[in-house]
Formats: sequence, structure tokens, C-alpha cells
Amino acid sequence: MKILLLNGPNLNLLGTREPHIYGATTLADVEAMARAQAEAAGAQLHAFQSNHEGAIVDAIHAARTDGTGFIVINPGAFTHTSVAIRDALAGVAIPFVEVHISNVHKREAFRHHSYLSDVAVGVIVGLGTLGYSLALQYALASLAPAAT
Ligand code: DQA
Repeated sequence: MKILLLNGPNLNLLGTREPHIYGATTLADVEAMARAQAEAAGAQLHAFQSNHEGAIVDAIHAARTDGTGFIVINPGAFTHTSVAIRDALAGVAIPFVEVHISNVHKREAFRHHSYLSDVAVGVIVGLGTLGYSLALQYALASLAPAAT
């Protein structure tokens, strides 16, 4: 079982970036917690962050052939702009959950639309970095042979 955790632009700044919105947890913390959670369930986690749209598209394409069974993605601002990331996710047909640390629906109108949500299995918004863990819990349950 292999899960890809993808983070988009500016999420490398987690922990110092607008902490009143995104909290104090760093991306390294998020990735370490996710890795531990996946390994405890007998799965493997590959974590990748990029500020570049094409690099995220490439990582999604690579997941098609490396045995990845599920993707957890916080596309950052590309959520609201990227047809390319939507097409990549639809193209590889790997189920994914979209995560947003903040409640985008409480924020500026331009954050209310996502190019990904209608092709996602589900969307978690506004639960802080716990949202990654909840998405991963879903991914692990859906990949486990005993899952119903
Ligand atoms: C975000 C919300 C986006 O609108 C924003 O551009 C981000 C982070 C979130 O996790 O709340 O970079 O995806």
C-alpha cells in the first residue's frame, strides 16, 4: 500500500506562514506524522511538496506507475487556478482527498471555488493540520483489504 502526500505552493512555509490562519505545525511535522501513521498501518508514504505546478503534475503522473493507491493533496493556491492539476488527477484515476488547513469558505471569494473538489473522493477543510491525518485515515481504511 503506497500513499502519496502532495502539498502545493507556500506550504513549505507552514509553521511560520500566517500562523493565525495555518497554525504553528511545520510541513516537516505534518509529513513525519503522516509517515508514522501510514507505517503503523503497514503502508508506505511518499511526501512531496512543490511551488511549481508542473512538478506537481509530474508527481501525479509518476504515481500512476509506482504503485500509489491513494493521494492526499493540499494544492494550496493551485486549488483555485489549476486545470492542469485537475486533469492530471483525473488522468491517472487514482482516488484522492483534497485537504485545506483553513476553512476556505470563510475566506475571500476567490478561495471558494476548487478545480478539484468535484473529482475528489472527498474534501476536508478548516480542521487545521489534523485534516491531513483524517484524510490519511480514510486512505488507509479504503486501501486495507478488510475495508468495507
Ligand atoms: C490552503 C487554502 C488556499 O486557499 C491557500 O492558497 C493555501 C492553503 C489551505 O490549506 O487552507 O495556500 O490550501
